[in-house]
Amino acid sequence: MSLVLTHIKQLVLAEKEPRPRVAGEEMGTLPVLNDAYLWLEDGRIKAFGAMKDLPSTEGVEVMDVSGRLVLPSYVDSHTHLIFPAWREGEFVDKIKGLSYAEIAAKGGGILNSARALAETSVEELVERALPRLWEVIGFGTGGIEIKSGYGLSVEGELKMLRAIRKLKEYSPIPIKATFLGAHALPKEYTGQRRKYIDLILKEMLPQIAEEGLADYCDVFCEEGFFTEAETVEICEAGINAGLKAKIHANQLNRSGGVQAGVKVGAVSVDHLETMGPEEIRALQKAQTIATLLPGCSLFLRMQYPPARDLIRAGIPVALATDYNPGSAPAGKMSLVMSLACIQMRMTPEEALWAATLNGAAALEWQNELGTIAVGKRANVFVTKEIPSYAHIPYAFGSDAIETVILNGEVWQVPT
Ligand code: NIG
Ligand code: FE
Repeated sequence: MSLVLTHIKQLVLAEKEPRPRVAGEEMGTLPVLNDAYLWLEDGRIKAFGAMKDLPSTEGVEVMDVSGRLVLPSYVDSHTHLIFPAWREGEFVDKIKGLSYAEIAAKGGGILNSARALAETSVEELVERALPRLWEVIGFGTGGIEIKSGYGLSVEGELKMLRAIRKLKEYSPIPIKATFLGAHALPKEYTGQRRKYIDLILKEMLPQIAEEGLADYCDVFCEEGFFTEAETVEICEAGINAGLKAKIHANQLNRSGGVQAGVKVGAVSVDHLETMGPEEIRALQKAQTIATLLPGCSLFLRMQYPPARDLIRAGIPVALATDYNPGSAPAGKMSLVMSLACIQMRMTPEEALWAATLNGAAALEWQNELGTIAVGKRANVFVTKEIPSYAHIPYAFGSDAIETVILNGEVWQVPT
């Protein structure tokens, strides 16, 4: 089956020679083709080029998108999309002056979600996550990562990962699963850290590996959560079980999370709100992607990650939503790009690379998603009639998307 988009005003992020990721100055320029066509066939990108070179479209479905831009779908490489319930109560606590760390210390935060998760079935988790999945697909996301981490028991973590596996059956976009058993120390293990870490190493990881339930292993490396040494230990055990590392690093403190990530060859270190020169130097020597989550800084009223320093240092930067009920209840990638531009001084070009190809690379999908390139999955979106791609992060309250195309077909919210 074929679908050809014609008269595209700007075909953005179209690469004849696909790169696996972009970093440094390269992030400052976007490949753009004016007055272009895009040929999708059997769920893949078959060809693209200038309108004047369009081959015969006889017998093929054609969509004239005059005045509109076409971009590759966003790749949201860090979310907690599966959760039992929203936490508006903590929103009010924050407004009244409590910090994220203070809410966590009094049993709110992640432990609040963990209590609710124990009462929720796999089916209920899936039922509650589906509208969120449709929502983010409508916002242009065409590939997503989802973490466990609200179970915090063998049964609870397996339940979350099984819910992610179930969600894949309904999802038109690819999903990667990350095991985040080390998200917080459960209440019943207070004073018994070692016992909980052993549970992760000896019971959770082996079962997850056996059932093939996760692609990555994550740790919340943070004061009051897990230390640098514990992070390394858990990630190494994850690697032995076949799960590469992705780490929640340096959100609230310079926790050693970045150094731990570099040590274990993490695919990405995520958050990075609190960084010093040592952390930047460590990343410069690594292959690890720096994933920034500015929705969190907005919501928690905290400092933003030093995107300019990272880009200047030649480190590949990705952007993701961190969609979760506690620190970022929003899964809109274009809003994340707006925050990146407005608050971190990333240019629209840098923000777009970070939200697409570098997000794909942070999930090892660089050959599958992230740019318009021959052979990649045909997940793209068509914008409304907007002046240029910079309008997407610029008009931060608008939705630029008119049509979402997944696997080569126009997508509509299932009813
Ligand atoms: O990425 N930092 C830890 N985990 C999530 C928040 C989870 C929650 O509060 O429910 C985050 O911000
Ligand atoms: Fe997170």
